[in-house]
Amino acid sequence: MNQRNGEKRIIIAIDGPAASGKSTTARKVAERLGYTYIDTGAMYRSVTLKAIESGMMDTIRSCPEKVEELLAGISVSFSGDRILLDGSDVTLAIRENRISREVSFISSLKPVRDTMRQMQQDMGRGRGVVMDGRDIGTVVFPEAELKVFLTADARQRAMRRYAELAAKSADTAELPGLEELEQEILDRDRADA
Ligand code: DC
Repeated sequence: MNQRNGEKRIIIAIDGPAASGKSTTARKVAERLGYTYIDTGAMYRSVTLKAIESGMMDTIRSCPEKVEELLAGISVSFSGDRILLDGSDVTLAIRENRISREVSFISSLKPVRDTMRQMQQDMGRGRGVVMDGRDIGTVVFPEAELKVFLTADARQRAMRRYAELAAKSADTAELPGLEELEQEILDRDRADA
C-alpha cells in the first residue's frame, strides 16, 4: 500500500502560519511526487462555511457545543483540486473573506478539531500524502517521516492574500486594504496560536 515502483511512500507534513505559502509548496511537492495533496485549512474553512450558511453561527458562538449538530454526518472530501462539502463544490466559496474572519473561531472548537483530525488520519492511512496546516506534524501525524515548518513575514503574507483576493474579485475597489489584511493576519496568528 505504501510502496509504488518499489519506492517507500511517506507522509509529508507542512506546518506554518496563515498565508506563509504552505499550500502552494505542498501542492507542488505532491505534483512532483505523484502524492495526494490535502489542504487541511480548506477543511476547516468548509466547516466554517457550513456554520455560516446554515445560519448557526450565532447559536454556536453562544453555545459552542451546538457545533456537534453541524458536524453530525458532515462530509468533506477532495476530488482532484476541488473540495466538496456534503457533495457540493465549495472550492471558491471557502476563500471569501467572510470565511477567513470566522475560521479561527470555528477551528478552535474541540469537536471540530477532533472530527477533522480523524478525517485527516483516515486520508493519510495509505501514505503518499502531503498535508499542510498548523498542527499536522505535531498532532495529526506526529510520526510523519518529513516535517517542514514554513513561515514568512506578515507584510509578505498580506500581499499574497491581497493578490489571492484580487484574482477572483470583479471589483478591486471592494477589497480590504493591505494594512487591514496585515492586521487580520496578525490577529489570526494570535487566535490560531
Ligand atoms: O491555511 P488557511 O488560511 O486556509 O487555514 C484556515 C484556518 O484553519 C486557519 O485560520 C486555522 C485553521 N487551521 C487549523 O486550525 N488547523 C489546520 N491544520 C489548518 C488550518
